[in-house]
Amino acid sequence: MTKVEIQVAENGPNLVMVDGKVAAALCRCGHSSKKPYCDGAHRAAGFKADVANIPVVS
Ligand code: FES
Repeated sequence: MTKVEIQVAENGPNLVMVDGKVAAALCRCGHSSKKPYCDGAHRAAGFKADVANIPVVS
């Protein structure tokens, strides 16, 4: 069975993990020019946010 998780990176994007590998990095800072994907703009923007892991039932 495929394992899907969302990992919330400290000061960065939401990472969609499929079987332990990053399948997509989704912007949560609002500064990406490639929304919904993270383009790294959170670093220059000084985005600060906590870490969390969110299990996804599939
Ligand atoms: S979280 Fe990386 S650009 Fe928004």
